[in-house]
Amino acid sequence: MWHINHQNSKDVLFGRQLLYSIQAAGKTTFPDYNTVWHFDDKVGQKYLLEALGAPFVPTSVFYSKKDAFQWAENTTFPKVFKLRGGAGSANVRLAKTKQEALRLIKKAFGSGFSQYDRVGNLKERIRKYQLGKTDLFDVVKGFIRFVYPTRYSIIAGRERGYVYFQEFIPGNNYDIRVIVIGDKAFAIKRMVRKNDFRASGSGNIKYEKDNFNDDMVKLSFSIAKSMKSQCVAFDYVSSEGKPLLVEISYGFVKDVYDPCVGYWDKNMNWYEGRFNPYAWMVDGLLKSV
Ligand SMILES: Nc1ncnc2c1ncn2[C@@H]1O[C@H](COP(=O)(O)OP(=O)(O)O)[C@@H](O)[C@H]1O
Ligand SMILES: [Mg+2]
Repeated sequence: MWHINHQNSKDVLFGRQLLYSIQAAGKTTFPDYNTVWHFDDKVGQKYLLEALGAPFVPTSVFYSKKDAFQWAENTTFPKVFKLRGGAGSANVRLAKTKQEALRLIKKAFGSGFSQYDRVGNLKERIRKYQLGKTDLFDVVKGFIRFVYPTRYSIIAGRERGYVYFQEFIPGNNYDIRVIVIGDKAFAIKRMVRKNDFRASGSGNIKYEKDNFNDDMVKLSFSIAKSMKSQCVAFDYVSSEGKPLLVEISYGFVKDVYDPCVGYWDKNMNWYEGRFNPYAWMVDGLLKSV
């Protein structure tokens, strides 16, 4: 079992390759191929979710400046621009106008984007400091990162040669994340940042059961099954009351889920109280050998 950290350069250089090789040798791994191949890869997720017919926000990816320009001339705005990698909303922004989209497209096919957005990251540290969610040292680190980028962003290189836009789904002041591990699921609701459309990483989270509806949990069980995933988090927004996926992920930050108040089984029975989802991962693995 290995939590491949998408921002650890060593993990990213050989984590998947080692796990797939071990799997090829007939051993059981966590994560396995179906669980992890699309991790931190929103381009991969687009193809997978479309192939499975999952309700996914309409998304366009282009691999040439010409195609992207042509699309931008003939579509409406705003659109949501994303890099394929990144978490906590760090690499997600709104292209409010065609001009903004054209600028992003030029950059995508020019100098490209760093995986580590120094300005956005510093702003986020200051926002968290003002809310009392982090200390001054964290803000200082944000300044230091202007001079010394993360090792991961140096080794990964710049993001270029593709551009990813998603329909902007308006009217969402939160997103819902449902995590399915084997035949159990739990959920959190994340409120958007002030004057922003982005929820993930905001730190403003609701845990009570009445924040979640059964249909979304059932849908999550069903997609997890068709993905043959050992563990998957689904991030949803809503459009006219219907859930739409914005991304999926096998990995998540433990501390955020510790306060969860209960979980569902696949028959939608609710179990009130604290639980240990990491033990479910071990149980699932032992069951499959
Ligand atoms: N297409 C969209 N329409 C409206 N809001 C979106 C859309 N995509 C993402 N968001 C918002 O932005 C946040 C970050 O997007 P997400 O794709 O989940 O990236 P990350 O990997 O950084 O969490 C989400 O939590 C959601 O609140
Ligand atoms: Mg997300």
